[in-house]
Amino acid sequence: MAENGSTVKKGEFTANIFSHNRIGERFYRLGLEFTGEGAAAFGEVKPGQFAQLDVSSAALPAAGAIAEELADTAARGILLRRPFSFCDVSAEGDRTRVEILYCALGPATLRMTTLSAGDTVSVIGPLGNSFCVPDDKKMALMVTGGMGAGPLIHLAKVLTADYASIDVIVFAGAKIKKELPFEKPLDAIARGLGFSLGEFAKFGIKSHVATDDGSVGYEGLVTDCFSEWLNKHSKSVKEMIIYACGPEIMLSRVAEIAKEKNIDCQVSMERRMACGIGVCQSCAVECRVSGSNKTIYKLCCKDGPVFDAKEVVF
Ligand SMILES: Cc1cc2nc3c(=O)[nH]c(=O)nc-3n(C[C@H](O)[C@H](O)[C@H](O)COP(=O)(O)OP(=O)(O)OC[C@H]3O[C@@H](n4cnc5c(N)ncnc54)[C@H](O)[C@@H]3O)c2cc1C
Ligand code: FES
Repeated sequence: MAENGSTVKKGEFTANIFSHNRIGERFYRLGLEFTGEGAAAFGEVKPGQFAQLDVSSAALPAAGAIAEELADTAARGILLRRPFSFCDVSAEGDRTRVEILYCALGPATLRMTTLSAGDTVSVIGPLGNSFCVPDDKKMALMVTGGMGAGPLIHLAKVLTADYASIDVIVFAGAKIKKELPFEKPLDAIARGLGFSLGEFAKFGIKSHVATDDGSVGYEGLVTDCFSEWLNKHSKSVKEMIIYACGPEIMLSRVAEIAKEKNIDCQVSMERRMACGIGVCQSCAVECRVSGSNKTIYKLCCKDGPVFDAKEVVF
């Protein structure tokens, strides 16, 4: 069901950093600009696709600027590129700008935080497949946990631009308020109208926020918030589609809910990746073989990262 992006020309390109903004304590939004062949390749990026970044030459932040719990991991060398998807893509003339929403949690992402406008970074991509929109859908329900928000922000932009007849509603969760990777929630009036998150409100999309401790929004898991909402709005499930990106435990519960309600569902999976192009086999995802009890291993980087939720063995 997910779309195969393999027809897009991919390669290794040099990107110029054009912006880098901090969001809260540990989240960042990094802007990369491509020209020439890179601009052509990344101008075609679809929501869910990703790229492999080489940030091995970036400096670590000063010791005092590294959170205590990351001090040990920060010291590790980084041999491999790291995969990131995009929260925004815009092509204009012979330039393409993409943005990555990321969390600093290890040696590579800590190094990324020191990149600044004018620096360059080597990027391999665009890689993998993308979310797709089946013809008969009238409502898209997005469920995101923690850092899963990036590709769904990109998808929200594409849906509102190209599929105006589809209503979109977002459910975003995190353990606590400061682990939500968004600019600060909108004011009480906007929230009262259902527009909690500016990143989606700018496309006219309503959002529900959930935190485990209730520090903002619904108190509890985002999947419970989503399930309760669905119980009240499940009239035309054939016209609905669920898109989910976030921790595997959340994806697993979203897949269960989708199965119970018989709603089509696409999930974006994460695996540790080495090559990112289907060679090293390090990113296996166990999948059901349709019409049998057998399972096979597909590759997250090549067959995914977006999978039909029904096929994934969680
Ligand atoms: C297709 C894809 C798209 C991604 N998009 C984004 C994105 O938009 N924003 C973002 O912040 N991150 C994204 N990631 C995750 C990102 O690649 C990792 O956070 C990054 O590699 C961490 O590198 P590090 O050296 O800083 O930390 P590491 O030391 O490599 O990892 C730190 C911690 O994160 C865990 N981890 C790292 N990578 C993965 C993974 N792929 N799957 C599960 N656990 C992992 C590790 O087990 C470890 O506990 C994506 C991953 C994939 C596969
Ligand atoms: S990362 Fe090498 S096969 Fe997927």
